[in-house]
Amino acid sequence: MHFSTLATLVVVATTASAQTLTGQYDCAPAGAYTLCQNLWGKSSGVGNQNSTLISTSGNTVSWRTQWQWQNNPNNVKSYANLLSNSAKGVQLSAVKSAPTAWQWEYESQSSGIRADVSYDIWLGNAPSGDPASAASSYEIMIWLSGLGGIQPVGSKILSGVSVAGHTWDLWKGPNANWQVLSFVSSTGDITNFNVDLKDFFNYLTQSQGVAASQYVQAIQTGTEPFTGSASLFTKAYSVAINR
Ligand SMILES: *[C@@H]1O[C@H](CO)[C@@H](O)[C@H](O)[C@H]1NC(C)=O
Repeated sequence: MHFSTLATLVVVATTASAQTLTGQYDCAPAGAYTLCQNLWGKSSGVGNQNSTLISTSGNTVSWRTQWQWQNNPNNVKSYANLLSNSAKGVQLSAVKSAPTAWQWEYESQSSGIRADVSYDIWLGNAPSGDPASAASSYEIMIWLSGLGGIQPVGSKILSGVSVAGHTWDLWKGPNANWQVLSFVSSTGDITNFNVDLKDFFNYLTQSQGVAASQYVQAIQTGTEPFTGSASLFTKAYSVAINR
């Protein structure tokens, strides 16, 4: 009996340590998602980051990312994120609903951190395409948090926009070959987000000229740190597209 208990503990410990990502572009399967570090802006700063898959259950996942970054306070250092493996490849006009829920918190943070906590949703003319690629037409960001005076790409074109039961500032501008539209919470951090993304898609097609023929190519959620240090814990996250 003692032997089998010990063997179980060893297996659990091995699995947990294998799930902490430390390399610049490390990724790991995470249930219905793929967890990636994506420290794409690492060279503009000094620091480090790691991301850990905590658990998966059905379409829900829990994870944590810990980071400390210095220098170039206006440069994003990374986008550690979860990418849904299934919520993609659907035309906006064919989306019946796209329920998502995200419960998160900063377990710790240094004073004055500059970081967002955000969705990054990629749209394009074709059913599939990598995020931030030649296939991208739009990058739709939803900032549930933006601390330290950071700003999205482009300029603020509207404020007081009501979508999905929350109030947003809307930012717009070009990046590479795609347009960026960013919804930034007007009411501070939204740590318990529970909406239908279809409300955003409707607003974009009805009020921002996005064609309903655009496909959702990818839905990512994560954080863009600029400077400071923090531990960001996602207690539970899920997203789906029903067509
Ligand atoms: C993860 O990152 C945090 C913050 O940078 C650091 O304190 C911690 O030691 C790191 N852990 C691992 C396993 O790399």
